[in-house]
Amino acid sequence: MHDANDTNTPPAPAPAPSLFTWEFASDPYPAYAWLREHAPVHRTALPSGVEAWLVTRYADARQALADQRLSKNPVHHSESAHGKGKVGIPGERSANLMTHLLNIDPPDHTRLRRLVSKAFTPRRVAEFAPRVQELTDRLIDGFADRGEADLIHEFAFPLPIYAICDMLGVPPEDQDDFRDWAGMMIRHGGGPRGGVARSVKKMRTYLAELIHRKRGALRDRGDEDLISGLIRASDHGEHLTENEAAAMAFILLFAGFETTVNLIGNGTHALLRHPEQRERLQRALAEGDETLLATGVEELLRYDGPVELATWRFATRDLTIGGQRIAEGDPVLVVLAAADRDPERFADPDTLDLSRRDNQHLGYGHGIHYCLGAPLARLEGQAALATLLRRLPDLRLNAEPEDLRWRGGLIMRGLRTLPVAFTPES
Ligand code: HEM
Repeated sequence: MHDANDTNTPPAPAPAPSLFTWEFASDPYPAYAWLREHAPVHRTALPSGVEAWLVTRYADARQALADQRLSKNPVHHSESAHGKGKVGIPGERSANLMTHLLNIDPPDHTRLRRLVSKAFTPRRVAEFAPRVQELTDRLIDGFADRGEADLIHEFAFPLPIYAICDMLGVPPEDQDDFRDWAGMMIRHGGGPRGGVARSVKKMRTYLAELIHRKRGALRDRGDEDLISGLIRASDHGEHLTENEAAAMAFILLFAGFETTVNLIGNGTHALLRHPEQRERLQRALAEGDETLLATGVEELLRYDGPVELATWRFATRDLTIGGQRIAEGDPVLVVLAAADRDPERFADPDTLDLSRRDNQHLGYGHGIHYCLGAPLARLEGQAALATLLRRLPDLRLNAEPEDLRWRGGLIMRGLRTLPVAFTPES
């Protein structure tokens, strides 16, 4: 309490919020608002013990994502010997999977991204739309007559894994192995790294063998799977090596899996918590208008996106972000979830508005590492949400909102389970 004599003293700012706690995982947005306001470039110790700068304002975040002085290569981490194995994807080092897009800088990044872009084209994704619809319907068939389901385990989790396996050309009989390995990653993503590392290794061995087999059996025509496309892709006579192709297939799986699970999970959750927005969308879909679906999925990404923090960056020299000096070798994490709620950039940032137009969110990143899989993610997100709402029109949350548990991983934000109820399909 202040007495009458110190009315001119500005109130002391509230203490910095605790980050990475259970409460924070459930709702990080108040803490992010505090950081944007009081400490927009904030040095903190992460749960792993590694110290990093968190960048939370939109303008700083966008600038940092495109700043080539920030490297993606962990060799630039000042604690690289000490922090070994604590940054990046568990097991990627021991499985010889380091040379993927999210760990490299130009010119290697430019070369590999150009090669993969020749195989992973928007056209290939568009041609895949009927298959995604089929998968979506098949998964809903699995629970539609039951009246209740856990939408994470029965829907959001398997859909992206089967979709990307199909696209890569993993034979159907092997896809459940991927489901198991991916399950291990998602369950333990924020916890023990050993199990995840083992799954990464198994996936790597499998992919290397598959690539080897497919290289021996390349067909002449263009109607082939993505792995064959990766093997065949060439640019000025250059091809991916088998090792690069394995790292590329791995990162497509890894980057495209938990992200899409959370897009569907967080997106459905947000719709169920905002009935007026969900009804708007349902009405538009019933009238055959898909415009709101397209803007709506972008808004769901902004409002409660799957990627809370963009992946690691390391300062290759001393530099300044938002007025804060960052030393060479320091890790920088751009907090996409905080930037996308910045009132300096978005009107009413804490309001979900499916028809939001001025919505240049950072949910897919920005700059040269902008999400390569965004067209596939949009396709899956739109198919998943539209089909759920069409087939199960009275879908509702089957738990108290405060009982829902969020996974407290560092990079990703998503629900552990999403219990729902609905009138069974007859
Ligand atoms: C990169 C988000 C789905 C493949 C990124 C980045 C973000 C992101 C934020 C940039 C990371 C950084 O700059 O540190 C998302 C979200 C998704 C999604 C929110 C789903 C809603 C996918 C899918 C795939 C994919 C389905 C592939 C099948 C990639 C790849 C990169 C990437 C390969 C690295 C690109 C590069 O470094 O050049 N994604 N992603 N993503 N994403 Fe996605």
